Amino acid sequence: MKNFFLFLSKNRTLNRAAKKWGLRFGANRFVAGESIDEAMAKGKELNDLGLLCTFDHLGEFVKDEPEAIDAAEFNLRTLDAIHRTGVKSTLSVKLTQMGLDISRELCIANMRNILKRAKQYDNFVRIDMEDSAHCAVTIEIFKELRREFDNVGLVLQAYLYRTEQDLRDLIPYRANLRLVKGAYKEPPDIAFPDKKDVDANFKKLIALSLEQGAYTAVATHDDQILQFTKNFVKEKGIPLDRFEFQMLYGIRTQSQLQLVKEGYTVRVYVPYGNDWYGYFMRRLAERPANVAFVLKGMFR
Ligand code: FDA
Repeated sequence: MKNFFLFLSKNRTLNRAAKKWGLRFGANRFVAGESIDEAMAKGKELNDLGLLCTFDHLGEFVKDEPEAIDAAEFNLRTLDAIHRTGVKSTLSVKLTQMGLDISRELCIANMRNILKRAKQYDNFVRIDMEDSAHCAVTIEIFKELRREFDNVGLVLQAYLYRTEQDLRDLIPYRANLRLVKGAYKEPPDIAFPDKKDVDANFKKLIALSLEQGAYTAVATHDDQILQFTKNFVKEKGIPLDRFEFQMLYGIRTQSQLQLVKEGYTVRVYVPYGNDWYGYFMRRLAERPANVAFVLKGMFR
């Protein structure tokens, strides 16, 4: 089931069709809306509950230049809207949406524009991590941008064997990191095939990142990883302003609120836009129970 949905997530024909259909099949459980205004309204609701946000204008694996420039422009408008509305939110960006598969220069130019605008507003931009084919180049581009900007962060994935070394190499960059398990389909020569090994590596990376002192965002819905982090920071006396928890919009909302109640900083990843298909398929792949929910939505 998981592989089937990860396979579907890369289907370009279905992706194109989904853009025309609009948010369907229950995708609005995971996607905040199609327009910037809808996203800001949802962001405001989350802020009112004590949650911070990071907006993600959906889209990835862009193959032509005008589309990449459009997507960068959309991110600039999102930063303007965050500033104008006062919604407490940062931005999350995928480099393949900024034109990485077309040209590295185009991608970097788009990112510079976004980071400059974010800097103007004292805001922060995090580079999401995509499939393993883009991992090395994403880290290289992050390092290049980090030399110029202090408001850029990165994501690392616990399922990749390479990640521990990547994290160690990033120590001199004082990188603000989001740590996740990893959401793409990767072969066993690149990524741990077993959940228990991914979880063990995730804990190791959390400890390493927190101990070396850079700001760490622990992004998971997994209770045992959340508990591990809470115990670790308590034991090591790591202050609350050195880390945060992050979860996805629409997933484990009660846990998000419970963490806020306990005094932790919690940020919700809020995707929006009409390119929702790939993101939605990855969420279905993570949890087969979501498929029943979608089927119900289709027949309603
Ligand atoms: P796990 O999959 O083990 O789930 C633990 C529990 O959480 C489940 O038992 C279930 O209760 C609940 N849950 C998890 N997924 C659910 C779903 N889809 N629907 C309903 N319940 C669900 N990945 C990546 O490769 N690059 C990236 O840049 C990012 N960015 C990112 C940002 C943020 C804020 C989050 C939370 C996650 C990401 N991810 C990501 C996705 C991440 O890699 C991973 O696929 C998901 O978070 C699911 O893994 P968990 O750690 O939640 O654990």
